[in-house]
Amino acid sequence: MEMQKIQELVANQQKMRALNQAFYNDPDIYRMDLERVYMRSWLYVGHQSEIHNVGDWFLFNFDRESVIIIHSAPGTVNALVNVCRHRGSRIFDEPHGYAKRLTCRYHGWTYDIDGSLRAAAYMSDDFDKSKMGLKKIHCEVLEGMIYVNFADSPAPFQAVRDALTECLRPYRLDQAKVAYRHNYPIESNWKLAVENYTECYHCAPAHPEYTRGHSLAEPESRSSRQHDEVMARAAACGLSETTVSRIYLRAECFGADYAYERYPMWRGHITGSQDGQPVAPLMGDIKDYDGGTTDFQIGPVTFALAYCDYVVIYRFTPDGLERSNCDVTWLINADAEEGRDYDEDKLIWLWDVTTHADQKIIERNAKGIRSRFYEPGPLSTMENFTWNFLEWYLDVLKGPGPGESNRVEISIAS
Ligand code: FES
Ligand code: FE
Repeated sequence: MEMQKIQELVANQQKMRALNQAFYNDPDIYRMDLERVYMRSWLYVGHQSEIHNVGDWFLFNFDRESVIIIHSAPGTVNALVNVCRHRGSRIFDEPHGYAKRLTCRYHGWTYDIDGSLRAAAYMSDDFDKSKMGLKKIHCEVLEGMIYVNFADSPAPFQAVRDALTECLRPYRLDQAKVAYRHNYPIESNWKLAVENYTECYHCAPAHPEYTRGHSLAEPESRSSRQHDEVMARAAACGLSETTVSRIYLRAECFGADYAYERYPMWRGHITGSQDGQPVAPLMGDIKDYDGGTTDFQIGPVTFALAYCDYVVIYRFTPDGLERSNCDVTWLINADAEEGRDYDEDKLIWLWDVTTHADQKIIERNAKGIRSRFYEPGPLSTMENFTWNFLEWYLDVLKGPGPGESNRVEISIAS
């Protein structure tokens, strides 16, 4: 689709309405999404416990890109582009491993674990190894969670660090471990998956298991008496009652969104589980269950829920125009032992059931949108966050992209 046509679609978008079909199935818009959203945003890739020893690595793959996340030296994590500097072969294709050196299996070029080129046989005398290290992208670790950014000059991560370090500290995520991690592939454009995550309008009809314990399906819960009681208990349990939200158009810097909010669960539920009862030991420095849960967000496409006994992180990535991945990680205290302290099936039950349901509803949504009869409908008052995301996304598409000239400001029709 021509740029002019895309700009017209953006300009004709009505407020608080679903998007036009083309945003979900046009290949040119998809390429813009990759350049303008995924190449410029802070993206969650994994947890430091997954690369505990120096030399441990795992791959972060999406669309056509692949990055080696490697523990390069004590306290140092590097994000190295998984493309050999000789003729471009991928270095690794296994999902994770351990390496003393990174050797390309095509012609044997060998890199140190910090990415510098160590050996390349039969090269001419003027070959300068020092210029041929693996490309590196920006990488930051916050409370054990590893984030990367592909931009040459990404938004400073410091804003996220300043806003969230203290709120997250009681969970001691830097001392946590991954109890379980699972990828849920979704046959839909990535935006439908993010739209779905950012609203709880669907929670009552689609997630009976979630709705039993969580109050987000009832917007009034935020101002209830129970809310005040839980916030008072949160403080006594060592948890932060802070609410911060600098996301999408309100983010201080593009791609460095952050939010943190604690809110009550329904009475009788103290964590996210089948019966609302604990499924793992209390995390970090938390003293007791306060009856609440926390939503937090880092970057535009990574979301998390923090209970007193575990944290679950959701990451959405595109894998082609109409395919995406929802990667889910469950974090618990590093010293918790399966069988003794927790049962894996019980730990993951709620968010596994819920994510399977989300897979289905998102794919059903994608199928309906492909129809010639689809026409964007109005959003409800419970889809405000989804509109925040869509409004930001439309702004991202406006005019030429970053570094391109002649940016045209087009306002969205109301
Ligand atoms: Fe890697 Fe040739 S492509 S050594
Ligand atoms: Fe859902």
